[in-house]
Amino acid sequence: MRKIICKTYEEMSATAAYIVAEQVRTKPQSIIGFATGSTPVGTYKQLRSLYESGYVDFSGVTAFNLDEYYPIKHDNDQSYYYFMRDNLFSHINIKEENLNIPNGECSDPAKECTEYDRKMAAMGGTDLQILGIGNNGHIGFNEPADSLSLATYLVDLTEDTIEVNARFFEKIEDVPRQALTMGMGGVFSSKHILLLINGSKKAPIVKELFSGSITPQVPASLLNLHPNVTVIMDEEAASLL
Ligand code: F6R
Repeated sequence: MRKIICKTYEEMSATAAYIVAEQVRTKPQSIIGFATGSTPVGTYKQLRSLYESGYVDFSGVTAFNLDEYYPIKHDNDQSYYYFMRDNLFSHINIKEENLNIPNGECSDPAKECTEYDRKMAAMGGTDLQILGIGNNGHIGFNEPADSLSLATYLVDLTEDTIEVNARFFEKIEDVPRQALTMGMGGVFSSKHILLLINGSKKAPIVKELFSGSITPQVPASLLNLHPNVTVIMDEEAASLL
C-alpha cells in the first residue's frame, strides 16, 4: 500500500480530490465508489470547487456507494442517500440515473443486495473506490468478525459503531441497528482503492493496518492484499507509525 502523509486534513482532502479528478479527466466514463462519514467531507468540498472551476466534468461518471443504513428513509438527513446529495451529487453535473446507493427503503434487502452486486459486476467493478476506516478497522460496514462477506449484504452494526455514529443523530436510539454494505468482493473489484484517514483517534488502527499482519478482525488489513491501494493520511493519523 502506498502511503501519502499530509500535514493537515485540508491537504489530505485536496490531494484526494485531485486523484479523483485525474481519474475522471483520464477516463470520463469512470465508475467511482463513494464513501460517506466525516472523513471524505473535505474531499467532496474540494471536488465541488474543481467542478465549479471547470477542471472536471462528472457527466459521464457512474457512482456506486459503499453502504446505507437499513431501514432508513431517503429524506432522513442521516441517510447516505441524503448525505451524498447534500455533500456532492447535488452540486456537480453527475446524472441522477448514474447514481447507485443501496436502497435503505427497500422491502427485500437480500434482493436489493444481489441486484446491487449484479449491476456493479456487469459494469466491471469500480475504477476508483474511496474508503474511510472505522476506529475498529471496519471498511464500509464490514465489521470485525471471524469471517467476512464477499457479497453486498445486510449487516448488524456492532455496538461500537452504533456508539461512534450516534454523534450524527439526536439520540443513540435513532441510529439504525443494521446497514446494507458492499462486501469485500465489491471493494476489491476496484482497480484503485483510495483510503482516507485523519485524526489522532485513528492513529491506533493505522498502526495495526501497517503492522504486517492481516486478519478479518481488522477488515481494512485485508487491503494489504490488493495490488493498488493509496492511503492518504494526515500527520495525526500517522503519528504512531
Ligand atoms: C462510510 C463507511 C464507513 C466510514 C467509517 C469512518 O460510507 O463506510 O466505513 O468510512 O466509519 O467514518 P468517519 O469518516 O466518520 O470517521
